[in-house]
This record gives sequence, structure tokens and C-alpha cells, in this order.
Amino acid sequence: MNLIIEKLKKEDLKEAINIYDNNYNLKTNYKKLLTIYEEIYNNPAYHNIVAKVNGEIVGLATIIINYDIVEELKPFLTIWNFGVKKEYRRQKIGTEMFEYIYNFAKNNNCDFISLIAEPNNKVAQSFYENLGYIKMIGYVKLINKKNW
Ligand SMILES: CC(C)(COP(=O)(O)OP(=O)(O)OC[C@H]1O[C@@H](n2cnc3c(N)ncnc32)[C@H](O)[C@@H]1OP(=O)(O)O)[C@@H](O)C(=O)NCCC(=O)NCCS
Repeated sequence: MNLIIEKLKKEDLKEAINIYDNNYNLKTNYKKLLTIYEEIYNNPAYHNIVAKVNGEIVGLATIIINYDIVEELKPFLTIWNFGVKKEYRRQKIGTEMFEYIYNFAKNNNCDFISLIAEPNNKVAQSFYENLGYIKMIGYVKLINKKNW
């Protein structure tokens, strides 16, 4: 399999966002995204990555470097919007994306990586635990979002 993991380019935006929309049965405000994409793209703390198989986008993740002000001031990385296209699951693409993210975090001197999984998303929990992620307890307060 010819798998490439790279920073999301503007021309790949629609195809990449479709993965998230299809996984969660949602509709991203694409018009709005286009108006702010350059700003996000040029912010060194924000990285959207995609996995491509033979040019087709099959995975998406948003990774953010959070700067810290305590201890040795080492940054930490958070992961959002992680998903693999349905037809390409269980082929270690998610695992390869996590390998990329781990190296990215390490190269940016991050102290740890953090993410959340929904309590009923047992597949994601198996996936993260298989990768050695430790289950903690997280809390979320919804403001405008209706459900998670
Ligand atoms: C969770 C997800 C990202 C996994 O991606 P993937 O590319 O299929 O995962 P991998 O092939 O790298 O799987 C690695 C390991 O994770 C575990 N795993 C993955 N999918 C699993 C499943 N459906 N059931 C049980 N364990 C699973 C297994 O241990 C697997 O290793 P194995 O195939 O050798 O048994 C994918 O299922 C997905 O996109 N789901 C929908 C979106 C989502 O839930 N995202 C996470 C939000 S918190």
C-alpha cells in the first residue's frame, strides 16, 4: 500500500473534511472554513494532517501544540477530529497516523499527547489502548454544541 501522511493542503480540504462529515453524519460549514483556512494553515501551533493511499485521502486528524507555563515549560500535543475512511479501516492506517503524530510531538519537544474518546466509542478506545494510551477521566462542558 502506498501510504503517505502529510500536512493538509488547501486543494485537499473538501475531500479531507468529507471523512469527518461521513464518520459523524455532520455537515461542516465549508464556506466558513475557506475564509479562515489560511490563518489556521499558517499558525505553527496548528496542524491538520491527512493520510493518502494512492492519492486518495483516507484519514484526517487535527493536532495542536499547546504551550505551557509550568515546570520546564514543555509543550503538549492534543489530537482532535481523528478518523479513517470506513472502507480503509483495520489496515493500520490509523496506527501509521499515530506514529507520525508521536514523532511530530517528539520533534516539537512535547511532554505528552492527550485526546478524548466518547464513552460509547469502544472501537476508538480499543484503538487508543492498543497504542499504549492510558485511560484517564476527562470532562467536557458543551456550550453551543448540542451533543458530542
Ligand atoms: C478508530 C479508528 C480511527 C481506527 O483506525 P484504523 O485505521 O481502522 O485502526 P488500525 O487498523 O490502525 O487498528 C489498530 C488496532 O486498533 C484496534 N482496533 C481498531 N479497530 C478496531 C475495531 N473495530 N474493533 C476492535 N479493535 C479495533 C485493534 O487492536 C487494531 O489492531 P488489529 O487490527 O491488529 O487487531 C477508526 O475506526 C475510525 O476512524 N473510526 C471512526 C472515527 C472515530 O471513532 N474516531 C476516533 C474519535 S475519538
